[in-house]
Amino acid sequence: MPTFLMCPPDYYGIEYEINPWMDRRRPADTALAMRQWQTFYDQLTTGLGVTVELLTPVKGLPDLVFMANAGLASGKKFIRSNFRFPQRQREVPVFEAWFKDRGYRILPLPPDACFEGEGDALSVGKTLFAGYRMRSDIQSHEKIGEILGCEVLSLELADPRFYHLDTCFCPLSDRAVLYFPGAFDDYGRRVITESVPETIPVTVENAFGFGCNAVVVGRDVVLHAGCEELARELRSRGFAVHELDLSEFIKGGGSAKCLVLRLS
Ligand code: ARG
Repeated sequence: MPTFLMCPPDYYGIEYEINPWMDRRRPADTALAMRQWQTFYDQLTTGLGVTVELLTPVKGLPDLVFMANAGLASGKKFIRSNFRFPQRQREVPVFEAWFKDRGYRILPLPPDACFEGEGDALSVGKTLFAGYRMRSDIQSHEKIGEILGCEVLSLELADPRFYHLDTCFCPLSDRAVLYFPGAFDDYGRRVITESVPETIPVTVENAFGFGCNAVVVGRDVVLHAGCEELARELRSRGFAVHELDLSEFIKGGGSAKCLVLRLS
């Protein structure tokens, strides 16, 4: 069973616009966001038996809830994110303190290389797939490969609406991924299909419904509600699919996967 880190949405809100999904005129309903987050948390912990550690929310950091962007944890190493936007750079000391307090070795990247953590870096077996362009820079990838001692395959993100890799690419196991072909260029699509044995394309509708932003725990998948085709496909492959409404987080440009960071 994995261990995740999450942050409750006490101070979550749409206070600025740094991705095409965010619009200050469409504010999040905070009470509803709290209920949706709690249902998701309960699903992971009580439902699936995942251990979840919590980071205390901080007033003035509305996107702290999108924990996947904190960095990348591997054993007791923590590769800290270098955020593209100043609005999120303010979160860094909070993550750093949390990991330092728990005995992690903090490994910063070169300051001029942006990197947004697990949001842009997902493993399939021993290979790390890393997205770049909108948020992370390709220059960060080599260093990450060095630190982790693994092969890194860089994927350019071609559509600003799929600005983090975890919005369009989702490992299902050591040999299978979900991906939205429209978020990559020809080269990226080839890298994916040639290096992963089983690649399952997600439809445009389900990709825009954040279908790729799912949390996979063994044979269980927690998926944003409304991705019917994808849910059917996953069930036909033997996965148990748990659909949840995370509408308030979609307004911020994220869904289930964005809300968790894998610690082990
Ligand atoms: N509002 C946040 C941002 O734009 C959303 C982050 C979503 N996180 C993710 N891992 N895709 O940075």
